[in-house]
Amino acid sequence: MADESAAEAAPPLLQLEGVAVDHGALRAVHGIDLAVHEGEVVSLIGANGAGKSSTLNAVAGLLPLAAGHVRYRGEAVEALPAHLRLARGIALVPEGRGIFARLSVDENLRLGAYTRRDKAVLAADLERVYTLLPRIRERLGQPAGTLSGGEQQMLAIGRALLARPRLLLLDEPSMGLAPRLVDALFDTIAAIARDGVSILLVEQNAALALELAQRAYVMANGRIALEGAAAALRDDPAIRRAYLGGTENP
Ligand SMILES: Nc1ncnc2c1ncn2[C@@H]1O[C@H](COP(=O)(O)OP(=O)(O)OP(=O)(O)O)[C@@H](O)[C@H]1O
Ligand SMILES: [Mg+2]
Repeated sequence: MADESAAEAAPPLLQLEGVAVDHGALRAVHGIDLAVHEGEVVSLIGANGAGKSSTLNAVAGLLPLAAGHVRYRGEAVEALPAHLRLARGIALVPEGRGIFARLSVDENLRLGAYTRRDKAVLAADLERVYTLLPRIRERLGQPAGTLSGGEQQMLAIGRALLARPRLLLLDEPSMGLAPRLVDALFDTIAAIARDGVSILLVEQNAALALELAQRAYVMANGRIALEGAAAALRDDPAIRRAYLGGTENP
């Protein structure tokens, strides 16, 4: 089946073509092109208000497109509602996490599996989530609102994983976390990628994002300003000045 010529011909897992997103009269995203291939971690970086969250939300189906196409495994999905995109394997961990504070940790986690029919393998997936996120297992019974910020972020990721995504959309996972927790979080994201989940990562911490990702896009004012291999972007003087807070010679 999967001979090499077929693999080469396979479309990207996710492909954005001329995607535009409006918030009322404001155009937040101006016709961008972007791709995530199977098995890739791709990072989307850029200043506040650049249009990163608008882009992820449009991919997940939480915002309509004003123009363009979102193709997933070669098929246009822009007309599908969010829950059907989730059922096909596109899971979003939104900015601000979207945890239900009064529900228990366990209830929050299981919400991630609500579109699944294969309840039999759910137990195994829960085990995998507990292994990736050991602190979650110890806190299953407590209200999710009592978790620390870092634990809530882990819970939000665990919930998304229970949907069995092929494509995980992460919006600012490190926001508000202490540096030590950010390192642990990025280790977890790397482990998820090794499990074969493709990831589109929006991240303020450009240094870490460019370390984890194979490729990256830089967004500015609703447009893609720059794209390329993450390693090349890390060494780009303009990127170093604008996003890595650094000198041009590391
Ligand atoms: N619900 C909304 N209503 C009106 N304007 C919005 C809304 N959401 C976003 N915008 C505007 O759209 C533009 C892009 O916002 P977006 O949230 O996509 O940026 P971002 O790159 O994710 O920024 P940040 O790094 O601050 O999260 C901004 O100018 C923002 O003010
Ligand atoms: Mg945002």
